[in-house]
Amino acid sequence: MSQGRIALMVLVAVALIAALPLVSSSSATAQDQVEVFSWWTGPGEDEGLAAMVEEFRKANPDVDFVNATVSGGAGSNAKAILASRLLANDPPDSYQRHAGLELQDDVRSGKVVDLTSLYDAEGWRQVFPPGLLDNLTIDGKIYSVPVNIHRANLIWYNPQTLQALGIKAPPASWTEFLDQAASIRKQGKTPLALGPQWTQKHLLETVLLGELGADGYVGLWNGRTSWRGPEVARALETYMKVLAVSDVKSAAADWQPQLDRVMSGSAVYAVMGDWSYAYLALTKRLRWESQYAVAASPGSAGVFDFLSDAFTLSVGARHPDLARKWLVECGSRVGQDLFNPRKGSIPARTDPDVSLYHEYLAWDLQQWRDPKTRIVGSLTHGVVANNAWNSEIDTALGLLVQNGDVAKFAATVETKRRETS
Ligand code: GAL
Repeated sequence: MSQGRIALMVLVAVALIAALPLVSSSSATAQDQVEVFSWWTGPGEDEGLAAMVEEFRKANPDVDFVNATVSGGAGSNAKAILASRLLANDPPDSYQRHAGLELQDDVRSGKVVDLTSLYDAEGWRQVFPPGLLDNLTIDGKIYSVPVNIHRANLIWYNPQTLQALGIKAPPASWTEFLDQAASIRKQGKTPLALGPQWTQKHLLETVLLGELGADGYVGLWNGRTSWRGPEVARALETYMKVLAVSDVKSAAADWQPQLDRVMSGSAVYAVMGDWSYAYLALTKRLRWESQYAVAASPGSAGVFDFLSDAFTLSVGARHPDLARKWLVECGSRVGQDLFNPRKGSIPARTDPDVSLYHEYLAWDLQQWRDPKTRIVGSLTHGVVANNAWNSEIDTALGLLVQNGDVAKFAATVETKRRETS
């Protein structure tokens, strides 16, 4: 054998030996990681997730937790990125969705694994409320694990601003809100702060709820309330009047700066879900009832417009076993009690450690558990409408906000309901 050939073989052998640990360590890394996708990043959004991830890491020290987050309230950016990953068969191991009809497309197009056996193994049917289990069940099976219950129908304010304006209490109806708004404007402030389009839809659902009442609101989604009827027309007119006294033309970039306008006193109210609590109490460190306060959105006292964040197991997940471990963390009492006090929500489970829920959250828990409370589902956050109808509503709402044509909006939403069901 020539010397040159021997030298070449030695080189190849050395290169192979050098490459071996690399190959094995990279495949070990790939096996021992789990990618979880959500939109919980930024102030008021990521603290709850971080607490649950820390607990998961403690229990699984050899697992690399890949926290794949995309910013933008209500998943406004995350949902589009997730859709393209699912389409390209490049799913994260587990991803965030809402309980309700939002997950229906993923189920029907085979993107998510049936978790019914995990529910049986963990005894979850006994610890989640029956109404929530109904919302999680699609075609007889359950495909996601809920971490929380959020409330959408809330109006946030700074009590010092109300006092300075001579307003005794937040408005109990939208008519009262409009009365207050007239006086607020005379005193040089914006009655209502808004953010991007999803916050305008969030406002729309609370105006519809406040104006139509719980039965009328529920009927919008199950077909019993006609979108073309006079009550809905009146409620939509109210919505346009509410928009007219808001800052919609120079709306904030997301829900946190929307709330900032209220806390700084340039605007008086914001309608927003209770993730606001995490931002105001924990990020901003404002004092409950002296620096910030909250009430049911006008006309909705005694009604709880709910939504629930849930995690899935993707079909084609690279690390299904670790994803299941993540789901067990999400569904556990410990995980939920770590997550929720920091997220501004209450556990989906019925057995939380109630001593952990203070201030707004204590009220929230009491309302959620009160048998007299009427529970309805959120439109904006995935409960009551499938994705196809919801996105038609988005398009129609964009036009409504521009042109104020309530009859056209109602007719379109009604027609699209039939076309997309
Ligand atoms: C909702 C989600 C909440 C919160 C909020 C603002 O859709 O369910 O957990 O993150 O968006 O981003």
